[in-house]
Amino acid sequence: MSELVRLTDVTKVYQGGITGALNGVSASIERGEFTAIMGPSGSGKSTMLNLVAGLDRPTSGTITVGGTDLAKLSEAGLARFRRDHIGFVFQFFYLLPNLTALENVLIPAQLKGNSATVRARGLLDQLGIKEAADRYPARLSGGQQQRVAIARALINEPTLLLADEPTGALDTHSGEQVMELLGRLHGDGQTILLVTHDAKLATRNAARVISVMDGKIVDDARLETTERSAAEVIRVRGEELKR
Ligand SMILES: Nc1ncnc2c1ncn2[C@@H]1O[C@H](COP(=O)(O)OP(=O)(O)OP(=O)(O)O)[C@@H](O)[C@H]1O
Ligand SMILES: [Mg+2]
Repeated sequence: MSELVRLTDVTKVYQGGITGALNGVSASIERGEFTAIMGPSGSGKSTMLNLVAGLDRPTSGTITVGGTDLAKLSEAGLARFRRDHIGFVFQFFYLLPNLTALENVLIPAQLKGNSATVRARGLLDQLGIKEAADRYPARLSGGQQQRVAIARALINEPTLLLADEPTGALDTHSGEQVMELLGRLHGDGQTILLVTHDAKLATRNAARVISVMDGKIVDDARLETTERSAAEVIRVRGEELKR
């Protein structure tokens, strides 16, 4: 594997913020990795994702994606970088209500026309919602809407798929389906950086869990140790329940 993302001593202080949202974060993400970022509310998870996506700029430190130093890109360059390399999935889908599912998927497509439409329909099929292509978002369940949003994130074959609490607005079953889907995409080679609150979903699907607290990385666990700690949590909870 080769490195895809590198954060070096990244700090983000928002205007008016007393403490940094991120405080000296360094991390490296390999191509093909499925990494979950976990941590309490306000710990800096979304900030980290937004910086890697080039949606915002750090106060200090460097972020490279595929060897490109994002600080060296102009605003237009960043927009191009996002379009060419980043797929972003949000908690609340953000589909345009007056466009069909298919039309939503096609919004970021660089080359319009027949081949993009074929690819978009293929993605909806792959994500298990072929029949939803010509429906409007209001007529789709939350899980279906999120899968449309994932198809939209994938239409330009992004180098990196970022997902910020993609299951946060879904019921348990739809959430599991979306996570399984991300797992399958990872199986096909997609690099994924996922923010989630759900330890069970994270440890079941991601091979690496980075824990963030007060804007710092406090733990970085590869699968085996993660599985062990998850098993430990389940064991302890089980014993608590027995009492
Ligand atoms: N645009 C902003 N302006 C000012 N402060 C912000 C902004 N965005 C985030 N913050 C602050 O930065 C810190 C980190 O926020 P962030 O959204 O990254 O946390 P998070 O880990 O994603 O939390 P959650 O789990 O609630 O989504 C918080 O203290 C938050 O209030
Ligand atoms: Mg967040």
